[in-house]
Amino acid sequence: MSTVPATLHERLKLFSQTSTVRFWSRLDEAERLQLVTELESVDLKQLQEIWQSSQKKTNEGLSTAERIQKASAPKTVIRQAKSPEDVASWQATLELGESELRDGKVAVVTVAGGQGTRLGFDHPKGMFPIGPISDRTLFQIFAEQIQARRQRYGASLLWLIMTSDATHAETVDFFESKQYFGLPTDSVAFFMQGSLPALDAATGEILLSGPGSLALSPDGHGGLIMALRNSGLLDRMTQEGVDHVFYHQVDNPTVIIADPALIGFHLQQKSMLTTNVVCKTSPTERMGVLVDVDGHTEIIEYSELTPEQAASHDATGQWIFWAGNTAIHVFDRKFLQRLAEDGCRLPLHIARKNVPYLDASGQFMQPSDASNPNAIKLERFIFDALPLAERTLIVEGNRDREFNPVKNKSGADSAETARAALNRIATEWLKESGHSLPEGHAIEISPLQALDAAELKQKLASGKVLISEITAPA
Ligand code: UD1
Repeated sequence: MSTVPATLHERLKLFSQTSTVRFWSRLDEAERLQLVTELESVDLKQLQEIWQSSQKKTNEGLSTAERIQKASAPKTVIRQAKSPEDVASWQATLELGESELRDGKVAVVTVAGGQGTRLGFDHPKGMFPIGPISDRTLFQIFAEQIQARRQRYGASLLWLIMTSDATHAETVDFFESKQYFGLPTDSVAFFMQGSLPALDAATGEILLSGPGSLALSPDGHGGLIMALRNSGLLDRMTQEGVDHVFYHQVDNPTVIIADPALIGFHLQQKSMLTTNVVCKTSPTERMGVLVDVDGHTEIIEYSELTPEQAASHDATGQWIFWAGNTAIHVFDRKFLQRLAEDGCRLPLHIARKNVPYLDASGQFMQPSDASNPNAIKLERFIFDALPLAERTLIVEGNRDREFNPVKNKSGADSAETARAALNRIATEWLKESGHSLPEGHAIEISPLQALDAAELKQKLASGKVLISEITAPA
């Protein structure tokens, strides 16, 4: 390959991206092949469109400002059970979800492709130690929950872990070094999301990270649909009779994996995409919010709202943007399949960020001016599938129990708050079992010891779990 293949060169010219091959003569054969492969995987037309729309500062369809203006608090939300009737109805729905689990109709997807920059942890986030006594990692907590549910329901529960180029090899090595935490290896599958190139914010040209490589980064959790299809896992789910896909993020150690109540409501209401929400603690909390716009449900990201907008009320005095997205969803497998077959292209979101790059003279640049980032990074968000679903459902979760993410080094949503939450939940379960400990004892319950207070009570009573096994001295 002495010259750039003619058809590729034509395409690059058409979309003003010939700068990507400016170092061609310096590359060896393998590097040239690699660059051609990277360029062929990029939809140049779409990049041009997104670049042009970023210059006009409008999106396709409604602009963000219009969407926010039209947004109202979601009309239909299944709220947490308060009355005895509600409690009975939640219990019946939970049993419905349990029967789907028993029949092996559920798979779990964990999205673990993000780079965890905010946390400042130099490994895949799932490897972060979070158990208050044991330092169990996030991945271990999820693995033990899955193992415990497999045992409780006597059924398979396929676990699909989405990684990215940045997290794949280390994640797989980690699972291998831990013998998959005792799970059958064929019940855990890793699949890699795609990547998208960063654009020069001034010119729209694709940035290079080296003479023969594009500056690529993960394509956002919205890359899930095509990654599931390309890996063959959508087909595998169909073959194995999976109807519902429970989706969660790697950063929340208290998520109730394969939550039978959420699955039950999803099934009962024939929803295609169900979302768990909690009431935001303050208008500026960094959570996306579920809203109704023009009769359908969608999510407005926290970064799209000004503090004033985030705090706005409707005529009844209710917060419009109260319903925080916990990023816990249930997808109908057939809905995912339909999106994949349609070549699902969720919209691209733009983030202006500093991205290291090779300049025209071949010098490596590391921009750092936060007020004037050099690049446009692109991502797809999975929740943009909401407006594409004919039937969606919103269910309110129990915030203290289910949503305690690890996102930041310190302060809110940090390792400290998540550990405290695990300790608090365990203490509450112990109390419900009729036991109490003097202040200051750390408590940690493995999902293999108990998935809920009722199981703990029963196992303590029968001696299958001892208090000394779940506590550390004060
Ligand atoms: C996210 C949601 C927000 C929600 C909040 C709840 C987005 C854009 N916003 O915010 O609505 O209220 O969580 O905690 O997601 N990931 C990938 N691949 C990627 C990018 C991310 O797998 O390319 C995964 C990460 O590993 C993580 C999750 O997606 O598990 C969330 O990503 P992050 O960027 O941390 O989202 P937040 O800003 O916290």
